[in-house]
Amino acid sequence: MNSIFYRVFSRYVFIILILSVVIFLFSFTIIRTNHINTLSSSLENLAISLEDRVLELIRQKDYSQLDAFVKEKGKHINARITVIRKDGVVLADSEEDPAIMENHNNRPEIMESITGRIGRSVRFSTTVQTEMLYIAMPLLQNGDITAVLRLSLFLEEINTLLATLRNRFLMITLIFIAIAMVLAFYFARDLSKPIKELVSTSRRIAEETLDITYQDNPQNEITFLANNFDEMASQITRLFAKTNRQKEELRAVISAIQEAVVVLNPEGKISLYNNSFASLVKRENLKHIPIGDVLPHKFTSLLSQVNEENRYYTREIELDGQIYLCSLNCLKTRKEIVVLLHNVTELKNLRQMKRDFIANVSHELRTPLTSIKGFIETLLEDENPETSRYLNIIKRNTDRLIHIVEDLLILSEMEKRDFTLKIDTLNPVHLIENVSSIFKQKMEAKGLELILDLPVHLPSLEADEFKLEQLFVNLIDNAVKYTETGSVTISARADETSVYFSVTDTGIGIPEDDLNRIFERFYVVDKSRSRRVGGTGLGLSIVKHIVLLHQGNISVNSVKKKGTEFLITLPLRSTTHLS
Ligand SMILES: Nc1ncnc2c1ncn2[C@@H]1O[C@H](COP(=O)(O)OP(=O)(O)OP(=O)(O)O)[C@@H](O)[C@H]1O
Ligand SMILES: [Mg+2]
Repeated sequence: MNSIFYRVFSRYVFIILILSVVIFLFSFTIIRTNHINTLSSSLENLAISLEDRVLELIRQKDYSQLDAFVKEKGKHINARITVIRKDGVVLADSEEDPAIMENHNNRPEIMESITGRIGRSVRFSTTVQTEMLYIAMPLLQNGDITAVLRLSLFLEEINTLLATLRNRFLMITLIFIAIAMVLAFYFARDLSKPIKELVSTSRRIAEETLDITYQDNPQNEITFLANNFDEMASQITRLFAKTNRQKEELRAVISAIQEAVVVLNPEGKISLYNNSFASLVKRENLKHIPIGDVLPHKFTSLLSQVNEENRYYTREIELDGQIYLCSLNCLKTRKEIVVLLHNVTELKNLRQMKRDFIANVSHELRTPLTSIKGFIETLLEDENPETSRYLNIIKRNTDRLIHIVEDLLILSEMEKRDFTLKIDTLNPVHLIENVSSIFKQKMEAKGLELILDLPVHLPSLEADEFKLEQLFVNLIDNAVKYTETGSVTISARADETSVYFSVTDTGIGIPEDDLNRIFERFYVVDKSRSRRVGGTGLGLSIVKHIVLLHQGNISVNSVKKKGTEFLITLPLRSTTHLS
């Protein structure tokens, strides 16, 4: 019985009862006090009317006459009259023999009147064994109190009167309570009815029966609340429909994805997956299953790599002899991890085939090309002007072919799985000086200035010396090849962790659109010019490989017709890196 009706009704009842009791007690007390006050005033008046005669008899010390007087008057006015001397000795009494009466100076009304005021008290009389109202008036002789004239009334009558009054009052109060309770019942029911309806409406919402409307005619706060409720219910219906639609769409999109998709909750349990994932792990009903139950430990160890700081992580893993590119993405807000498994076995095999093919062809081409070159050189020694022109063209093209084959072999070698750098401690300044000296003659022939901007002291560098030479040969070769006038500047700087090189020229520059493609294999900006100057587009690809093998970084800035700048950062301490 903890319903809203019961709660409202019980509170109403409580207030009604409290109010009724208070009003009842308060009014009853007021009536009683008023009544006693009126009686007191009449007694006072009576006392005043008797005062002169009593004083006279006291003055004459005629106490038997005094007693007879009060007895007679007492009967007459239906009140008890007592005359008490200042010291409390009863001189006369209308009901008893004063000689046998005890001393009265401890009676509250007497004590009060001795101070000169009219004493009054309502109390139980030990003499007559009933509740009485006392009025005590001091009797003055020559300004001094000689005695006290006390008049008293039995309160029995008043009490009977008050009892009747109280019963009536009680009746009225009970009737009032009954009416108030009936009204309270209706008020409580009126108040709780719309709330009850709201409750049942909300229950229906909770049970997803959302096609509801609340009806209540009078316009008050509860109606507004109910209307808002209605509004909310229809909003929720709309939102539900929208969310369900979006959910379906999302499910359809995820199912349509060829790659295996799985979403993991923060505990590593599956919360969403698509058909491709189910067929990958050859299991159904995967929801709430820990990912460790369906994928090998090698995969689950990757999960620890993905966290708040490292939100995106990609790694190749092998499952059932197939290679998967596994991308893990941590959703920051929900701490969920989205995993995408893309089968790259075929792609990898193709790439490997391509690499093997290039490596094999280059290898097979190298020996015959070297022998062709040797024979051409022998033939050129004959110095036959007729044939030497053609032989020189053949030699130039053979040189170009050998150059391509060599570059391809370098790339193939660096792409091998077991390729290792030969790490030595080397002086970067010496390295730059050695490599740049190779180009001195070529640059002088072209009228280009070589500027070496190298500090006196640079920390030694741990790197593969031969590979770094290849790197700078390629960069300086490009700078010289693609610069007609001006200079080529090579600079180096270092801090505690890295050494920073730059190769800058004042040449033709690279168009912005081509900048992010120049490190691709065989990518040349201008094919006809490259053919002319003998470029194949492999140089920068080799450069990039070498930098990455050293865990370094390369970037390029270029302005067309102004020049190009290549910036290389290499860590001072390099570790042998597997390709
Ligand atoms: N310093 C440079 N100034 C202008 N263009 C450049 C410069 N360095 C590279 N390039 C452009 O980038 C392309 C790729 O350079 P890359 O070194 O890979 O090939 P290449 O020099 O043409 O041939 P290879 O180096 O294999 O003989 C070049 O064809 C050229 O157009
Ligand atoms: Mg080049």
